Amino acid sequence: MADAQIRLYYKNVTSEIIGSEHGITPGQLKALAEKTSPLIRLVNVERKAGKTPYRDLPYGKQTPKQVKDLAAELKDNCENLVVLGIGGSALGNIALQTALNPYMHNLDSTQRPGPRLFVFDNIDPGQLASFLDWVSDKLDKTIFNVISKSGQTAETASQFLIVRQLLLDKLGTDGLKNQVVATTDAKQGTLRRIADDVGLRCLEVPEGVGGRFSVLSAVGLFSAAMCGVDINLLLCGAADMDNKVSDEDFYQNPAAINAAVNYHFYNHGKKIAVMMPYSYAIKDLADWYRQLWAESLGKAQDIAGNEVHIGPTPVKALGTTDQHSQVQLYREGPNDKLFTFLQVNDFQTNLTIGPAPDCAPELRFLAGVDLSILLNSEKKATEYALLQSKRPCLTVLFDAVNAYTVGQFIYLYEVTTSLAGALFGIDPYDQPAVELGKESTFALMGKSGYEALARQIEPLSELDQDFLV
Ligand code: PA5
Repeated sequence: MADAQIRLYYKNVTSEIIGSEHGITPGQLKALAEKTSPLIRLVNVERKAGKTPYRDLPYGKQTPKQVKDLAAELKDNCENLVVLGIGGSALGNIALQTALNPYMHNLDSTQRPGPRLFVFDNIDPGQLASFLDWVSDKLDKTIFNVISKSGQTAETASQFLIVRQLLLDKLGTDGLKNQVVATTDAKQGTLRRIADDVGLRCLEVPEGVGGRFSVLSAVGLFSAAMCGVDINLLLCGAADMDNKVSDEDFYQNPAAINAAVNYHFYNHGKKIAVMMPYSYAIKDLADWYRQLWAESLGKAQDIAGNEVHIGPTPVKALGTTDQHSQVQLYREGPNDKLFTFLQVNDFQTNLTIGPAPDCAPELRFLAGVDLSILLNSEKKATEYALLQSKRPCLTVLFDAVNAYTVGQFIYLYEVTTSLAGALFGIDPYDQPAVELGKESTFALMGKSGYEALARQIEPLSELDQDFLV
């Protein structure tokens, strides 16, 4: 077991701290334990039956080796790595990079052990055009990792088609072949067909693992390995957390307690779940969590087919930044939120605040103090203020942010999501409501087979001038 760990602190959601109107009473906690315990067993059984293959990603030997071999092959001649993907094919890559590499990674070559990393998870023409202008004379030193299970996602496909043409124009067919790595389904789909046709280097999106559960597969590991992240340590952290979240003793299982607390507050009028990291490094873990939570738990039907329209709304906030933009609402607005702070104990970088000038004695309390002490004091201060307003607060404590603890965090939240799905009685692994938007895009873009849908959309997508002011 590594020295640095993450732990979940949940006393500040209890009635002992915020009173019985808003806090969880001992009786309610006992009832939650009784309801959740059989579901821990169920989730463990499903896992053993192979129904949740994301659970086994920390133990795969072949994928990490393949990823590391490919990174070793490409790294020496790669100054820029560009990920083209969206949703589950991008958010994990971004989160790992922000968490595990320095803030100035892309700008300062002395601070990075690998290429610069750019993740394009949108199709804004201004953004992409600006980047392509910059990169077009560096294409032979740039690897494009296009990630799409299906290959049909309009955003990723359009980015890829732009890049493909650029590579063909500038470097020819060999350039396309040399500069692109495709991460896609092992056997089928549009991107697989293109990759096989061109002879692209390929990595696999594992069978049965949805995008939002795929960060510990080649989807997230390749960019991490290229950029110097110790992917073995990441997977070890996840495997360590697997032991903890498989524990059938509710009170020893952080995922079970996390899921149960979230479930309780959703059912007691707190339908918004705010995640508030107090560290820049882990801010994008909150973005990754937002997708995991929203797509997995927001469902119209339960597993029996009843209409339920369930799902907590995940919100991300950043400490201390959002103390100055959100906390007024969080304290005095409706008491409809559960807060989860992410706190780092050891920032591993000390920055001491300078002395106060003589004309500003009121700043002396800051002088000579480590900046991380101020940051964590502000976290405690904000939490205290919220508790005074009877707002429930969880904290995930990171002893330090490193590949091991980030692996633990990812796995903790993935299994929390599985258990929350079981508590809500919904299927956390599908996302049927995303399809209509995708299909409507196809229809609006004139894709063959979507003509009838295009006709249905037309009256709604044309502006009615009577309502335009
Ligand atoms: O979590 C998910 O399943 C989604 O966010 C997908 O990752 C996203 O829609 C991209 O899909 P694809 O990998 O097919 O391009």
